[in-house]
Amino acid sequence: MRQDSFVLLVTDRPSQMRGLAGGVERMVTCTCLTPGAALPAERPLLVILDLDERQPGNAASLASLDQRTRDGAVPCLTLLRDAGGRRVDPATLSDSHRILPATTPRDTVLAKVLDMIGQAARACTERTRRLEARAVAATGLVTELFFTAAAGRGVRDADADRGTETVLEAVSETGIRAWLDVIWKHDAQVYQHTLSVSGYAAAFGDEIGLSRDDHLRLTKAALLHDIGKSKIPAAILNKPGPLTPDETALMRDHARLGADLLLAQGGFAPEIIAVVRHHHEKLDGSGYPDGLAGVQISDLVRIVTICDIFSALTERRAYRAPLSVTEAVTVMTGMRGQLDRTLMHAFAPIIARTTAGDWR
Ligand SMILES: [Fe+2]
Ligand SMILES: [Fe+2]
Repeated sequence: MRQDSFVLLVTDRPSQMRGLAGGVERMVTCTCLTPGAALPAERPLLVILDLDERQPGNAASLASLDQRTRDGAVPCLTLLRDAGGRRVDPATLSDSHRILPATTPRDTVLAKVLDMIGQAARACTERTRRLEARAVAATGLVTELFFTAAAGRGVRDADADRGTETVLEAVSETGIRAWLDVIWKHDAQVYQHTLSVSGYAAAFGDEIGLSRDDHLRLTKAALLHDIGKSKIPAAILNKPGPLTPDETALMRDHARLGADLLLAQGGFAPEIIAVVRHHHEKLDGSGYPDGLAGVQISDLVRIVTICDIFSALTERRAYRAPLSVTEAVTVMTGMRGQLDRTLMHAFAPIIARTTAGDWR
């Protein structure tokens, strides 16, 4: 995927801006959009905003794009068209957010763009390096968690905590899309699924504004949710075809096995153990292992269940190709009465960020 390698120009006068776009193209790809068009999923290296605030809708587009770049720490150059009508607040200017009058000669604008691209490219290389390092560290920690659990040596809580912190830091700095891209570069499916579900949980907690403690608990619960799979033979986990009824029963036992493992070891919060045991329960009582229903299923469990199902559906499995995001959403909205509708709505922006415009 193209990442951090293009400039996004949003303008309401594309023909007049062709010269500037052409100049930028000599350095990097320049994607030119009119206001209101869908933004690219990939994070741009730099955003150039050229909108006349006096035109209907443009002020709102400018404000939302400016905020978006600030939230995502994407450098932004605004070409101020209505210089007479707007006072620039110096507090809004920084190394990464600059403003030039739209009447500035093109060569001067290009020089400024080149300077900002150089700075952004250096920051991007550093961010990518940190993300890769975190993915390697998190994969190592999750592998260790599963190995020690499989060998009957318990689960090291400190490893789970470090894994949780690593996922939270990565998702908060680079967003869920970049996290999914980096963890799916490697191919140990159970660990990728674990890191993917915990990434979604981290993004979910961020979206609904959980406290730091709740955010940590949710992400850690997601990181441990399938730990019981460490007790399931690889031949069943990776079987490239449908499971027999006996194999299905064994596979389903991973929820109980995981919870028992953490219980036996001690020291894990009851809410986390509940997630491990109940993440396959459904609100209508059709899930397993205990057939819980409605209020018997906590919010923490409901959130991890949604992250787990969405992640599983969109992952490649030995027995099927991944579903597209739209197909996965159709499957999940078809699970009437089984998933928490309010939490599904809250999850929608995260789904959207996996396909479009997650610039963090
Ligand atoms: Fe599971
Ligand atoms: Fe799972």
